[in-house]
Amino acid sequence: MIVVSTGRFIADAASTTSDLAKGFDSVASVFAVLDRVTAIEQEDPDGHQPKSSLSGAVDLRGVEFAYASRPDVPVLCGFSLSIQDGRSVALVGSSGSGKSTIIGLVERFYDPQRGAVQIDGRDIAYHLRSVHQKIVLVGQEPTLFAGTNGYDTWSGEWGVQLPGGQKRRIAIARAILRNPSILLLDEATSALDGQSEKVVHEALERVMDGRTTVVVADMLSTIRNCNEIAVLAKGVVVEKGNHVSLMAKGLTIPRQGD
Ligand SMILES: Nc1ncnc2c1ncn2[C@@H]1O[C@H](COP(=O)(O)OP(=O)(O)OP(=O)(O)O)[C@@H](O)[C@H]1O
Ligand SMILES: [Mg+2]
Repeated sequence: MIVVSTGRFIADAASTTSDLAKGFDSVASVFAVLDRVTAIEQEDPDGHQPKSSLSGAVDLRGVEFAYASRPDVPVLCGFSLSIQDGRSVALVGSSGSGKSTIIGLVERFYDPQRGAVQIDGRDIAYHLRSVHQKIVLVGQEPTLFAGTNGYDTWSGEWGVQLPGGQKRRIAIARAILRNPSILLLDEATSALDGQSEKVVHEALERVMDGRTTVVVADMLSTIRNCNEIAVLAKGVVVEKGNHVSLMAKGLTIPRQGD
């Protein structure tokens, strides 16, 4: 009996030790992430703080970019795109062609390894916190925190109790209230049911009007209404034009996710 209990105790201790070791490993990797120093400073005192609002011209020039976690996999390979203020551009291309990466670079979530991302003709080394008031991103999964959402309705943590269509409509309403100079829409209408899609689409049309907008969309109607369509493949723009001119070239717009 004593031998059996002692044996069990040793076995338990051994498994606890291995759990502890795993725990230490996990904690170490969390701290490694927390300790990582970013070169992108939100409150850079030397960063340019635009006095008035931005006019919203966006310029990407010869951008080369790979994610830090996969430095030898180039995502953008000399990507260039110029958007005049108040104009809209739709980015289309197959899954993984780099559309969301471009949105991330305009937000300056990352810096390119080569080339430049400019807003109003100035390198994006702005005082980021002040610029982010003027650049608004509406994505597929907007984050809403627990609390009332302005309509005196309890929305739950991360808005989990709201259906996707309503979350997106709230995100768009917030975007309108911030009156941004640059609007970034990354699949803001995807995976919605027919009715929500229509309402969200109409709301977007209104907010896009006269505002610099970069749209990643899978609805042909949204793409068609953009001033310009840029087709991406292998990290560069392979075709550019409006819907009519691209159709005339016999180009079919690839649906995102294909
Ligand atoms: N955080 C990341 N770390 C490493 N690689 C990434 C990261 N995000 C995206 N990638 C890779 O970069 C490439 C471009 O991805 P991106 O998300 O920009 O494509 P996308 O055109 O938006 O695709 P989708 O239509 O599926 O949304 C892909 O090969 C993807 O696997
Ligand atoms: Mg994407």
